[in-house]
Amino acid sequence: MAGNAGWALVTGASQGIGLALATEAAAAGWNLVISARGAERLEAVATDLRGRFGVKVAPAPADLSQPGAAAALWSAALAASGGTIGVLVNNAGLGRHGAFGSPPEAAAQEDEVIAVNIGALTTLAQLALAHMRGAGAGRVLNVASAVAFMPAPNMAVYAASKAYVLSLSEALAVELAGSGVSVTVLCPGATDTGFFDRAGTGKMRVMQMLRMPGPESVARVGWRGMMAGRRIVIPGMMNKLSAFGPRLVPRALMARIAGAFMASTH
Ligand SMILES: NC(=O)c1ccc[n+]([C@@H]2O[C@H](COP(=O)([O-])OP(=O)(O)OC[C@H]3O[C@@H](n4cnc5c(N)ncnc54)[C@H](OP(=O)(O)O)[C@@H]3O)[C@@H](O)[C@H]2O)c1
Repeated sequence: MAGNAGWALVTGASQGIGLALATEAAAAGWNLVISARGAERLEAVATDLRGRFGVKVAPAPADLSQPGAAAALWSAALAASGGTIGVLVNNAGLGRHGAFGSPPEAAAQEDEVIAVNIGALTTLAQLALAHMRGAGAGRVLNVASAVAFMPAPNMAVYAASKAYVLSLSEALAVELAGSGVSVTVLCPGATDTGFFDRAGTGKMRVMQMLRMPGPESVARVGWRGMMAGRRIVIPGMMNKLSAFGPRLVPRALMARIAGAFMASTH
């Protein structure tokens, strides 16, 4: 019955893949703590999900680029759920397109990418896994990217941040084997959300070559993979192939190929 599955914390739940993951969770009967910076948008999402699925939804606005924000969010999530978070979806993330550290103000944006994609994700995973290990059960879904498998000129810091998420998640999945707690990493390829506009990519070659799926199909396979306790979920055949490519191609060549795909054509 709706609302009886337990409580899930979903970050970056106000739009895109995170909103689709929160919707999957609500449809499966999970009560939710949803987070993002935009409080108004979060309230609208909460009202919508409560109305459609009859679950409890607690909005918890947070800017995860700020020191201490991830720990404060975890405390707020525990308080809202009565200490019973059983699922963490570490989805909030951002990218930045362009030459590394150029123009000079780009360095601040790259620092923000690291703070959210790496720093906040790690803190939330640390806190959630300590809690879940104590309970002997729980599931974590970390959202990486298809670019986690390769260096990506023009999105160098973003791709490196996602390589970290992939590596961390795979290591944790092994550490946690047999514990009743699982860590899954979701590696989507280019997906039709506002991510690219916000990252300032312009029209990248990769976007012209592929038909981008919507966030709903990506979220569906991600959510199911996490619930099945899978280690890695790569949606779509092209993305599976691109994850395999770096095993066959020398890394220097792989970086040049990825750079060509990441180049803006205008
Ligand atoms: N779209 C793609 O092609 C693609 C491909 C592979 C992986 N991914 C990954 O999938 C995840 C979701 O991406 P998306 O495409 O859904 O992007 P999106 O549409 O831009 O949504 C990003 C979400 O993260 C939140 N967010 C951004 N900065 C934040 C901050 N400083 N503090 C707290 N929340 C923040 C945003 O809300 P606010 O702006 O209100 O804070 C929003 O809810 C990201 O980790 C991204 O790297 C995306």
